Amino acid sequence: MLRTIGLMSGTSLDGVDAAWVETDGERIGRLGPSLTLPYDPRLRADLRQLLDVAAVTGEYDPFLLDCVARLTAVHVEAVQRLRDQVRRTLGEEVDLLGFHGQTILHQPLRPGMPLGNKSPRTWQVGDAALLARRTGLSVAYDFRSADVAAGGQGAPLVPVVHAALAAGLPKPLAVLNLGGVANVTYIGTDGSLLAFDTGPANGPLDDWARRRAGRDFDADGRLALAGQPDGAVLSRLMHHPYLALPPPKSLDRLDFDRALRDAGLAELSPEDGAATLVAFCAVCVAAGARHFPEPAGLWLVGGGGRRNPAVMKALSGALECPVRPVEVVGWHGDALEAQAFGVLAARVARRLPLTFPGTTGVAAPLTGGRLVGGLL
Ligand SMILES: Nc1ncnc2c1ncn2[C@@H]1O[C@H](COP(=O)(O)OP(=O)(O)O)[C@@H](O)[C@H]1O
Ligand SMILES: [Mg+2]
Repeated sequence: MLRTIGLMSGTSLDGVDAAWVETDGERIGRLGPSLTLPYDPRLRADLRQLLDVAAVTGEYDPFLLDCVARLTAVHVEAVQRLRDQVRRTLGEEVDLLGFHGQTILHQPLRPGMPLGNKSPRTWQVGDAALLARRTGLSVAYDFRSADVAAGGQGAPLVPVVHAALAAGLPKPLAVLNLGGVANVTYIGTDGSLLAFDTGPANGPLDDWARRRAGRDFDADGRLALAGQPDGAVLSRLMHHPYLALPPPKSLDRLDFDRALRDAGLAELSPEDGAATLVAFCAVCVAAGARHFPEPAGLWLVGGGGRRNPAVMKALSGALECPVRPVEVVGWHGDALEAQAFGVLAARVARRLPLTFPGTTGVAAPLTGGRLVGGLL
């Protein structure tokens, strides 16, 4: 087994999650400590701005390069801190890093939602070679582009890890990750996987909380719980073509921004707007569940959104079955995605497939990722 640190920085742009995992890419051994290193407010704001300009940004744009250097420095620090903790608490070392990087653009081919004259593309930034140099470790990175180049969605990547973790749990089971965007993994009774992004989650909520209430996010769902979803706005949003699109499908962090504007969200009060976004997140998840071959008996929820009681309540209302944080089965909801990238790093090192027809829509199981540095 390899001793890995997985590093994940999701579309919420809140920071870097790091987790130590012992794994051969198929089996998961010990799950060690984990931590989150938040971005400083300036880096978060700059990365948010980068999302808006990524489509026209060149690889050597000075603003981009400056963001990448600062982003990589946060990752170096996360690795150093976690490595110290692992040495102290487990007396263990690290062999390999799984470095997701920050997605600033995600534009796969989507049947029914043409790209126009744009080519399919997914872009995660971060300097893997610098991370390898500064830590002295091998780094697996660029997990998504081979899949997108082969016609897949490039996302989600974590289902294979959800399935490994859920080996002993009753099926059919749904695992929902509530990040900036929400993605679900459905695991059937026969172990088959179906996975896709359901719709927006914390991303638009965070933007709304910042713009309309001067907060980084709607802590504990306070705004949303004080408001009422607006029926007219919600029903306009429910007509978005993405909801009816059959999986495989995946989203860019900004895919719904225009629809939210056109639906008249901006006219709502801060409370009602937050309540409407929460309700829409739940509606999207319920619409996604209609694509499952059989209803899931249990929904396990990971990611920061599980800490938002308004979201959990809306999900329970929209899905007719129990919705629980992943902690009920002993998983770590803040570390899950980072742990997954540790496992995926081992899969890159062993040249095992990362993506599958049921997860990204790629024609056949496909390897991916690249390696830099160290001795591997
Ligand atoms: N106590 C909380 N109440 C409400 N929302 C929360 C809370 N804690 C975290 N969140 C939400 O979770 C987000 C971070 O989730 P995370 O799983 O890290 O997403 P990502 O994978 O996209 O980075 C925050 O931006 C915020 O919207
Ligand atoms: Mg995060």
